[in-house]
Amino acid sequence: MSLVGGELGEGALHVPVMVEEVLAKLVRGTESAILDCTVGEGGHALRILERSKCFLVGIDKDEQLLEVARKRLVRYVGRFFLTKADFREARSVLALIGIPRVDGVLFDLGVSLRQLADPSRGFTYWGDAPLDMRMDRTGSLTAADLLETCTEEELERILREYGEEKYARSIARLIVAERERRPLRTARDLVELIYQAIPARARRTGGHPARRTFQALRIAVNRELEGLDRAIEMAFYLTKPGGRVVVLSYHSLEDRVAKSVFRRMEAAGIASILERKPLTPTRAERERNPRSRSAKLRAAALI
Ligand SMILES: C[S@@+](CC[C@H](N)C(=O)[O-])C[C@H]1O[C@@H](n2cnc3c(N)ncnc32)[C@H](O)[C@@H]1O
Repeated sequence: MSLVGGELGEGALHVPVMVEEVLAKLVRGTESAILDCTVGEGGHALRILERSKCFLVGIDKDEQLLEVARKRLVRYVGRFFLTKADFREARSVLALIGIPRVDGVLFDLGVSLRQLADPSRGFTYWGDAPLDMRMDRTGSLTAADLLETCTEEELERILREYGEEKYARSIARLIVAERERRPLRTARDLVELIYQAIPARARRTGGHPARRTFQALRIAVNRELEGLDRAIEMAFYLTKPGGRVVVLSYHSLEDRVAKSVFRRMEAAGIASILERKPLTPTRAERERNPRSRSAKLRAAALI
């Protein structure tokens, strides 16, 4: 996750979270290859390349962000390979470039500030932004499609589970009633309904009233939790003995998945967990970058 200094313009960059903590777990000076499963615009990747002599393989579903990363890492040409893929396909990506195992794998889950900040990507709840929210723009289902096709029960489940939205039922009910009259296409269409569904008193606390609904839809559109356990587990099998798997998450459901995979890997004698409790950002980082507040870092060493 991220913060930006000042305006969200062209030059605005996602600020990588818990960089020193990630480097301390991942980079020990002897590694030959590291896999960054969510390279985004290359914030962590750049620091890994600076700190280590390794070769970096970077995966992201978002081609637009990969372009930014390619430019940002240009001084390390020859030491990295970036490709558009889903991290669930990490094994095939490594096989394709002839690196069967790496010395470290990083997942920095969730969404990048640049995705959030670009109105045309539809993650934002401001104005006439289209309800898109796809990280992979070649993926078919947009948030608008989802709002049009899900049953009321399914919408309610998505909002409650992924957004922890207390008013999930009334928001889902209003969405279904409204879509009978007109398609919900823009952020404004949806935000208006959310305002109607949430009592005025409740709207005054907990940030923007649409925040939880938008987060839930984003998770559903990008199927962020589907197969996450298998992807993290696969990372352990792609890592050499002594290597590290590091997961940064921003949502309690993601962290729960990471925690249970780490425990399973430890119980199977495949890895040892480096910290019993997840690490969190320092107070200084939280103040500097409020978006880092929910971050949790888990790390394990392969046996
Ligand atoms: C928090 S950002 C990563 C930021 C990056 N560490 C940096 O410092 O610039 C999360 C990234 O994960 C990507 N992503 C999310 N789910 C993915 C998946 N299943 N496969 C590949 N990339 C994914 C998003 O497109 C986004 O760029």
